[in-house]
Amino acid sequence: MTDASKKIVYAVIATVVVIAIVAVLILNNHKPGATLQENDLNESAMKQTDAPTVSVNSVDKNADTEGRQVEGKTTKPPTEPSVEADIPSLAETFANYFPIGAAIEPNQTVGLNAELLKKHVNWLVAENVMKPDAIQPTEGNFTWDNADKIVRFAKENGMEVRYHTLVWHNQVGAWFFKDAEGKPMVDETDLAKREANKKLLLKRLETHVRAIVGRYKDDIHSWDVVNEVIEPGDPDGMRASDWYKITGTDYIETAFRAAREAGGSEAKLYINDYGTDNPAKRDRMYELLKGMLDKGVPIDGVGHQTHIGIHGPTVDSIVESMQKFGELGLDNLVTELDMSIYAWNDRRDLGEDIPDDLLEKQADRYRELFEAFRANKDILSGVVFWGIADDHTWLHSFPVTRTDAPLLFDKQMHAKQAFWAVVDPSGQSKPST
Ligand code: GLA
Repeated sequence: MTDASKKIVYAVIATVVVIAIVAVLILNNHKPGATLQENDLNESAMKQTDAPTVSVNSVDKNADTEGRQVEGKTTKPPTEPSVEADIPSLAETFANYFPIGAAIEPNQTVGLNAELLKKHVNWLVAENVMKPDAIQPTEGNFTWDNADKIVRFAKENGMEVRYHTLVWHNQVGAWFFKDAEGKPMVDETDLAKREANKKLLLKRLETHVRAIVGRYKDDIHSWDVVNEVIEPGDPDGMRASDWYKITGTDYIETAFRAAREAGGSEAKLYINDYGTDNPAKRDRMYELLKGMLDKGVPIDGVGHQTHIGIHGPTVDSIVESMQKFGELGLDNLVTELDMSIYAWNDRRDLGEDIPDDLLEKQADRYRELFEAFRANKDILSGVVFWGIADDHTWLHSFPVTRTDAPLLFDKQMHAKQAFWAVVDPSGQSKPST
């Protein structure tokens, strides 16, 4: 072979080798039949289970807020959890209306949740750690650490804290309701002993309230004094709790009076309940409050939990209830807002892939709700969500274990359609999808 022919043969061999290497690389990168997007999606689905890391991310304009494909656009995989820096702040958006809050656990005062809270809320509520069993698990043993952590985080970040809750029939130590001999007070039949038990329980209650309000009165000015005391299905329409069975309505009166004495006139004192839009419950609460106010019991307002769903109750019924209490001279707060994507009697689990039409319906409901809240700002002085993002909500285990998506931010902390409906009801500034 001449030198020239050798060069041609070597060049051909080199080209074949390069083509073979490129082919092997391509085949290794792609499973047979998989598209590039599917491979990327599989990878980010795995990342979703990783611990969130703090990063700042802009809105993905090619995908919807859940990271799914928008018609006519390229599919973008869901991005990693992050706090979106270039979206409006909820609290700033509502600065001329009312504060916006969220219920949290102490471990949400660090990391990504903390960043999201700092951007969007100016009120915090303890989801659990200020409840009676958390604060005084056994008599005289007060445990403040977790509650203090939330108060400290709020102060460091210029937020207010609301206290939830001084009195409740759930999450309360059984010791409250045991007599001096350790027997359940509710079983007592002797009248004199029943009277002594009532005194003992009210004394314990007073000690509990005074200790807590005394400790936090300079830091906390809004208090859920009693929670869920009305139950239209129970005798007299009052919840047949141990509190009620042992003291009648005296425990309510005692709790409010002790809170006022310990907290002074600065303290705003609320009765809190769910389903306050339901006329039977609303009217029973109205009657109770009217009687208490006539007796001079220091009650400042009604906390409407507002755990609602995309199918009901109507926004009108929620607002009518606030107006009714407003007529009594009482303030209103929305204290535990969230909106399940399921109807109450629907026990299905839609899993992670929540249909877009449900998220749109949720956005429409949230829009309508906040428009009504804005219009009624004179009788509504705060809105607190029961959580901040869909990664953490009690509705993942109630009424059954399943995926729900009740809040304004998704599991990756990104703004959902509902967020935009709330901050921008006319749809002018939402980034186009
Ligand atoms: C009620 C209580 C809250 C909380 C929710 C569900 O609304 O007031 O403290 O327990 O139930 O988590």
